Amino acid sequence: MSLSNKVAYITGGSKGIGFGVAEKLLAQGMKVAISGRDIETVVKAANKLGSPENVLAIASDVTRPKDEAAAVKATLEQWGQLDVVLANAGVGHFAPIDELSESAWEQMIATNLSGAFYTLKASMDALKASKGYYMTLASLAGTNFFATAAGYNASKFGVVGFTQAAMLDLRKYGIKVSTIMPGSVATHFNDHTPSPKDAWKIQPEDIGDLVVDLLQMNPRTLPSKIEVRPTRPDLK
Ligand SMILES: NC(=O)c1ccc[n+]([C@@H]2O[C@H](COP(=O)([O-])OP(=O)(O)OC[C@H]3O[C@@H](n4cnc5c(N)ncnc54)[C@H](OP(=O)(O)O)[C@@H]3O)[C@@H](O)[C@H]2O)c1
Repeated sequence: MSLSNKVAYITGGSKGIGFGVAEKLLAQGMKVAISGRDIETVVKAANKLGSPENVLAIASDVTRPKDEAAAVKATLEQWGQLDVVLANAGVGHFAPIDELSESAWEQMIATNLSGAFYTLKASMDALKASKGYYMTLASLAGTNFFATAAGYNASKFGVVGFTQAAMLDLRKYGIKVSTIMPGSVATHFNDHTPSPKDAWKIQPEDIGDLVVDLLQMNPRTLPSKIEVRPTRPDLK
């Protein structure tokens, strides 16, 4: 199935997984809008992606429904359609629950969970028109809980449940919905700086390959919940 000239919007596409997915979609001939909270960072990322006529840099904070509506509007104004939406923007704060601050909790729920909802709300009509694909970037932390992750777990368990229920609501419109649940990926997440020591981890472009595989799957078949792991965590 050709993806050429299809249009994607990736929230949090300025670095990490979102950027890796953008690279792979562009390589398929797609047009890609990427967002982040800071326009300068997003424009730098867009320039790094090359192919200026196929990339749109958007400043949007997914915790603000109005920003997401404006981001989708800008994408539609640029290319007239929207086929793929990846709700990827996310943050993580890790601390024992007796030390987790209200602001850290609120930022995770607002970004990782409410943000995914606002992005879907903003793109719903366009996805119905294109019979498109909506994906969330959840985490293995959306099914495995661990100490210091109560807030992050809550946001990611939430986004997995949200995505699966949305899938049941939207597939009758021909809209596919999936959640991708990776383990460790070599990104800037939680103030990490990717380095050669991360070679054992999943790389952002691997998630990009996975997204391309999902988009190319026969329309009758929907992998709705995908767990992704590093093959060799023992090399850590
Ligand atoms: N790395 C991992 O091991 C891993 C594993 C499983 C799941 N995940 C999930 O994967 C997703 C992407 O994370 P990543 O690992 O690629 O991290 P990353 O390298 O830190 O990238 C996060 C992206 O999200 C953007 N962002 C953060 N808050 C935002 C907001 N409120 N509005 C819009 N954009 C926002 C960031 O841009 P600005 O900061 O410039 O806004 C950046 O582009 C997250 O949902 C994360 O929970 C990561």
